Amino acid sequence: MRLFIAIELPEDIKRALGRLRVDIPGARWVPAEQIHLTLAFLGEVQETTVGRLTGELSQIQTPEFNLCFTGTGCFPDRRRPRVLWIGLGPEPRLKTLAARVHEAVLACGIPQEERPFSPHITLARLKLPAARECGAFLDQHQQEILPPISVREFTLFQSRLTPQGAVHSPIKSFRLAATGVNG
Ligand code: 2AM
Repeated sequence: MRLFIAIELPEDIKRALGRLRVDIPGARWVPAEQIHLTLAFLGEVQETTVGRLTGELSQIQTPEFNLCFTGTGCFPDRRRPRVLWIGLGPEPRLKTLAARVHEAVLACGIPQEERPFSPHITLARLKLPAARECGAFLDQHQQEILPPISVREFTLFQSRLTPQGAVHSPIKSFRLAATGVNG
């Protein structure tokens, strides 16, 4: 099974992010209902490992938190953009959660990239060089006004590759620790 772990976004945020879509040659925009914040990409995992994995993930007890959106950006750089994303304000509890997820995945013998976690929400992937069009998009959305979201859980997803693109289905969600009204 092809798996990844992500934070689901509220429906209204997904719809708002979906509306940022513009015409850029070679761009494959993530369908609004699929927009998510990836914590870890696992790739192909044996079905027999999934029970162990959900067990490890359910041990994670990091606190819930809020996330603010910043503006859009791209990877690797504006001269040859390959991924357009929207960024998130610094939140140590998000980093901690991603680190715990990384450890849980490794504990199941699933290899993980050693690249540091760089929180972003992918909006589009680019197959062709379109630096000018992407530059215009990025300039227009330097500071996107969206309400902050409260993150209370994270989800293990299956991603099935189809000729129409990836289809994501949630397998199990894991509740973060409640912090009370002021947390
Ligand atoms: P990202 O584009 O948001 O960084 C599900 O496929 C998610 O896993 C994608 O949204 C992508 O996150 C992430 N991912 C990381 N490495 C990947 C890879 N090699 N192939 C597919 N998805 C990957």
